Amino acid sequence: MSQSNPVDAGEYDLVAVANRLPVDFTVDDAGEVSWSRSPGGLVTALEPMMQAADGAWVGWSGAPDLAHEPFDGDDIRLVPVTLSAEEIELYYEGFSNDTLWPLYHDVITAPAYHRQWWEAYRRVNRRFAEAAAAQVARGGTVWVHDYQLQLVPAMIRELRPDVRIGFFNHIPFPGLEIFAQLPWRRQIVEGLLGADVIGFQRASDASNFVRAVRRLTDLTTRGQVVTVTGADGRAERHVRAAAFPISIDSAHFDQLARRPEVQQRAREIREELGNPQTLLLGVDRLDYTKGIRHRVKAFGELVEDGRLTVPEATLVQVASPSRENVGAYQQLREDVELLVGRINGDFGHLGHPAVHYLHHSYPPKEMAALYLAADVMLVTALRDGMNLVAKEYVAARSDDRGVLVLSEFTGAADELTGAVMVNPHDIDGMKDMIVRAVEMDAREQRKRMRRLRRRVLEDDVAKWSRSFLSVLGAVPLAEPAGWTGSAGSSGLAAGDPTEEAAEPVR
Ligand code: G6P
Repeated sequence: MSQSNPVDAGEYDLVAVANRLPVDFTVDDAGEVSWSRSPGGLVTALEPMMQAADGAWVGWSGAPDLAHEPFDGDDIRLVPVTLSAEEIELYYEGFSNDTLWPLYHDVITAPAYHRQWWEAYRRVNRRFAEAAAAQVARGGTVWVHDYQLQLVPAMIRELRPDVRIGFFNHIPFPGLEIFAQLPWRRQIVEGLLGADVIGFQRASDASNFVRAVRRLTDLTTRGQVVTVTGADGRAERHVRAAAFPISIDSAHFDQLARRPEVQQRAREIREELGNPQTLLLGVDRLDYTKGIRHRVKAFGELVEDGRLTVPEATLVQVASPSRENVGAYQQLREDVELLVGRINGDFGHLGHPAVHYLHHSYPPKEMAALYLAADVMLVTALRDGMNLVAKEYVAARSDDRGVLVLSEFTGAADELTGAVMVNPHDIDGMKDMIVRAVEMDAREQRKRMRRLRRRVLEDDVAKWSRSFLSVLGAVPLAEPAGWTGSAGSSGLAAGDPTEEAAEPVR
């Protein structure tokens, strides 16, 4: 990594850095660019703090070659990072989504290792780091998100040694035996160690990371704390790895699903489907980590075995388009569509397909109506950092009805112990559990759903971000030579003693 000179402070106390900005850009025929808010989970989590604390968000617009000056959007400074079409291919589709994504999801599909992709990843990470370093105020806080930007923490530290740096990995962190495949494993670990606090979804992800540090560097660790040494070998700072399971804006989803028009829409959906006795639902990005094929196969076999019948039971599978230029995603789409076509051909009736497959995404209101309409929610991921769909389903069910079938390989499984747990690789076991969910009486549904709802409503995304920022805010700020003034007094996360205890949410 090339040495960079420190840069001047910017004016924002809290800077979020993520691959995508929380807005959608559109370019009209005349080349005019306009934008609208895209209400993702992360922005919901950070928005109140960003608005209260002079916040900026650094990210990619989602389109190639779109150069746009920083602008203010709803009290948050939005700072677009430009990516060329080639960088999207090498850094985003290539290294992020065809190397790191499959590697970090336990090599469900084979990762590809290309030196050219790695070079682009480094180059683009540096661009994000430079943009963030130019925005953050002296003594402020930078919070970097996810696997696309793992080199950014160390790059920011070089440029701005005066700030606190947090990193949160939204996806799993793999065991050492798998991570060790990566030709650039040491650089990734060193990039992450530029942060003061590294957050993971599950305790096992944090332990996997600490184990990688022990094996791939000479640094010492104590529990989940890594001691980083300076050039003279003396302890310079401590980096804490810990679990902070992410959540959703549960109250918002709960409220949405209580709205009369949403409840009416839920009834309409059931009617449109011919009022089946049992509506089973899957909602995922069309991604090979989600176990969509395993789930559809299990459903098809249950119909074939006569344990479920069509049209009394029907499966709705929403599969939102994702990363469509990556080969593994194109292959998955073909596989899923072939399977759905076969099952419908074999078991569907006129006007009553066995599987309703929808390759679209839907707005939150329609999703809430679908959740309310579904008797059984199938979350059967082969590996998933958290899985927020499972939490959305629970938040929507204020009627205490419905059954969540949940893969034990999701982060959510650590928390949502009231779900019916499955191993999606075990098709027979999963079939039995699906039947169990379909047949579950109202009393047991209520008992389980209440337990699930307590957890989801209490541990919401606001608690998640407060908890992370409070741990980060307790880290002492470095006072590097050449920096004067009251570093630490301006950042939101500078450790307000009245804040709740610096404990990660479980
Ligand atoms: C996962 C990742 C996010 C990513 C999202 C959508 O949730 O953790 O970082 O933004 O998928 O994927 P995309 O490639 O469209 O941004």
